[in-house]
Amino acid sequence: MLPAAGQRNGRFPLRPVGWPPPRTEIRLSVSDPPTTLNAMQITEFDASDPDRIAGAFDVLTAAHAADTPENPVPVRRFFETTFTHQWPGRARRWFAAEEEGRVVGHLSVTFHLDSNPHLAQFRLHVHPDHRKRGIGSALLDQAVELSREEGRTTLNTEAPLFWEGGPVRSEAGARFLEKRGFSRALTSVNRRCAVDAIEPSEEDRMFAEALDAAGDAYELRQWIGRTPDDLVVSLCRMDTMILSEVPLGELDVEPEESDVEKIRAAEAVNEAEGLIMVDSVAVDKATGEIVAWSGIGVDEGPYTAAHQGITIVDPAHRGHRLGLLTKLANLRQLRERFPNVRTIWTDNADVNAHMIAINVALGYETVDAVGEYQRKLEA
Ligand SMILES: CC(C)(COP(=O)(O)OP(=O)(O)OC[C@H]1O[C@@H](n2cnc3c(N)ncnc32)[C@H](O)[C@@H]1OP(=O)(O)O)[C@@H](O)C(=O)NCCC(=O)NCCS
Repeated sequence: MLPAAGQRNGRFPLRPVGWPPPRTEIRLSVSDPPTTLNAMQITEFDASDPDRIAGAFDVLTAAHAADTPENPVPVRRFFETTFTHQWPGRARRWFAAEEEGRVVGHLSVTFHLDSNPHLAQFRLHVHPDHRKRGIGSALLDQAVELSREEGRTTLNTEAPLFWEGGPVRSEAGARFLEKRGFSRALTSVNRRCAVDAIEPSEEDRMFAEALDAAGDAYELRQWIGRTPDDLVVSLCRMDTMILSEVPLGELDVEPEESDVEKIRAAEAVNEAEGLIMVDSVAVDKATGEIVAWSGIGVDEGPYTAAHQGITIVDPAHRGHRLGLLTKLANLRQLRERFPNVRTIWTDNADVNAHMIAINVALGYETVDAVGEYQRKLEA
């Protein structure tokens, strides 16, 4: 999934207060096969509708179990919070497809508010027992229609893909999108690593080597949760750098300016979600600026999987092993503070050779992939 300014965990909410949520109701009669599908109804819903939120989460959980069971499970608190807390610079609207009062599919459409005015991103899931009956197509039509209404001209979403050596993936979502005018703009490969994948002596050796390569020019700083006040302005500079430095393939996405207000707002959303950020940075002693940064998100609770977020090194400071240094330091911090976490998941563009080389050295192994799909909407 796309990173964005202030968005360090690859997951992005929400709707600002006042975002107009006019309730729309679309009734579709799907006649084929008439015996198994009655009238299906698509309804917009929001935070005031806990039943539909619960129904939508059940669909997500069932889709996860059918499509990508090896990957980290959806987290209820995280999902519910996307309805109540706004991610800075984003607005999101939700639609439920229902049959006989039961949610069988859902759609979320996210708009960037202060950058990327051309872009809409959506996610759509249909309960595995209700697929191939037209529900996904109806929800996709809804995403297109809403995006057009909002004046958006680029629509993107993602779908699971099989990756060599990994578990079976149906790729039905990818084919579904390709038949509907989307093309793949980027392939991200999901990798997984045990927190103790490397022998302790080997890990010590790698850490010492990275420290050595970094020399005396840098100071390592680490924290859990909110960014320390004396580093937050510097972190904005790195956050802004993300979208111009990570490979985006054919994705039509512009870099987004970060600022302290956005970083603090994003941290507040993370806190509400129960997503605890674990960060390590290298500070250039000469300027006091952060020049390398690695962050991991941990879900509060008994979850054993953590999510590697951004790792980025300022181009002017590459070649000093700062990527490896901040990642290894962060791994140690994670292990010490969150002993319940057993694995870390990460996704990298398939062409991101430098990042992948570091991940392979740390013991990451491929699982599956995600296709980032894009479609231009004719004006
Ligand atoms: C991709 C996904 C959304 C499709 O949902 P769906 O409800 O099965 O979608 P539809 O029923 O509209 O279309 C699926 C296929 O079933 C066919 N179909 C529709 N009604 C049918 C019926 N009554 N009988 C038989 N086939 C039917 C459609 O023609 C379509 O085939 P096509 O792509 O060859 O044209 C669903 O598989 C899913 O949730 N996957 C996991 C999440 C994911 O991959 N998301 C990415 C895509 S946005």
